Amino acid sequence: MDRIVTGQLLRFAADPFAGAPPAETVRHDARGAVLIAEGRIAAAGPVDEIAARAPGAARVDMGDRLILPGFVDAHMHYPQTGIVASWGKRLIDWLETYTFPGEMRLADPDHARAQAELTLDLALAHGTTSLASFGTIHAHSADAFFAAAAARGMAVAAGRTCMDRNAPEGLHDDAASAHDESAALIARWHGRGRARYAITPRFTPTSSPAQLEALGALWAANPTCLMQTHLSEQVDEVAWVRELEPWARDYLDTYERHGLIGPGALFGHAIHLEPRERERLAESGSAVVHCPTSNTFIGSGLFDCARTVADGIRVGLATDTGGGSSFSMLRTMAAAYEIGQLAGTALHPAQLLWLATEGSARALRMEAEIGTLAAGSAADLVALDLGSTPAIAQRRARAEDIWEALFPTIMMGDDRAVAGVWVAGERRI
Ligand code: GUN
Ligand code: ZN
Repeated sequence: MDRIVTGQLLRFAADPFAGAPPAETVRHDARGAVLIAEGRIAAAGPVDEIAARAPGAARVDMGDRLILPGFVDAHMHYPQTGIVASWGKRLIDWLETYTFPGEMRLADPDHARAQAELTLDLALAHGTTSLASFGTIHAHSADAFFAAAAARGMAVAAGRTCMDRNAPEGLHDDAASAHDESAALIARWHGRGRARYAITPRFTPTSSPAQLEALGALWAANPTCLMQTHLSEQVDEVAWVRELEPWARDYLDTYERHGLIGPGALFGHAIHLEPRERERLAESGSAVVHCPTSNTFIGSGLFDCARTVADGIRVGLATDTGGGSSFSMLRTMAAAYEIGQLAGTALHPAQLLWLATEGSARALRMEAEIGTLAAGSAADLVALDLGSTPAIAQRRARAEDIWEALFPTIMMGDDRAVAGVWVAGERRI
């Protein structure tokens, strides 16, 4: 049965970073509608036009709530949900003190299942309908996440995290087991339903050249998979990589040498980049993922989003929980805005919204399926209440256009702003 969801709509006609004034890249329908048929978006636009196309369709009236594509979180760690908001450490210490012990607990498959279910339910409650998540070293961590996502109808990317050095006993593999267990997971999950496999070396400090070589070969044999890792997050980490791999021209080179760059490569953070790295990221069609709440929480540095986009590099946006301090892509957009201000660039609300939807979908090379309201995309939607708290509502009451109406929710909103969530056309919230 076809359904029509009515509300306000914002739809991108172009990339708001491409040069035109950002507000002009977006169509606003004050009275809009999305027509859903068989889990997909059949059409989106002004309500009268959409209603005329499907006169028999059942209606869900969301009033003046803003209907958007569900948010896409392009980098996170579901095994770290249990250690989110852990105090006082920077990256390497934080990994050793909180993260690795937390990931060790996923040796228990029941715990992995519970963490996966909890994380995906938290994501949905915050309006996030797709995520790219790291697992742990345990193959069953990837099984648990893919199974929980399939049960919720969600399009996700994930992979077993590979580490064969500088990792504690119990979170340690080797090049061959990383390759073989990842290959078995690809066969089991990649392309099954809405799942995509992401080959996942954690980062160069915990993956030897032999492991990166094996995973590069695996990616070459499975080129439709994604590849996710970390790059140049903290200055101390970059110095450590220089010590570990003195032959490399720079940090990116430690991946590049083994075939781990290119379309479908996702590099989390990428804050402290050399000019050569910027050039190669752009030329190769790799994506970097901005994790602003994490970058301030762990004290990593200020990612220059405007410059990175201007360099021709694909950029997605992500929570990076549990290094990030919020499950909310609204809070994440707010943090991206604040960091942009510190770098001298006020990102327009249209640009923030784009990063959290189509930009992240493009980073994941999934923009044909998620991240837009284009006909043919999955009906993964979020409806936002633009007056979800008294503080937000009073500011919105003074708004003179849709951007002024939306920006208080971007800056001050959270899961209370999420009035509805649909995944493949099914209402979940
Ligand atoms: N670098 C290597 N592993 C991690 C991780 O789990 N979180 C973050 N933020 N950075 C990393
Ligand atoms: Zn990460």
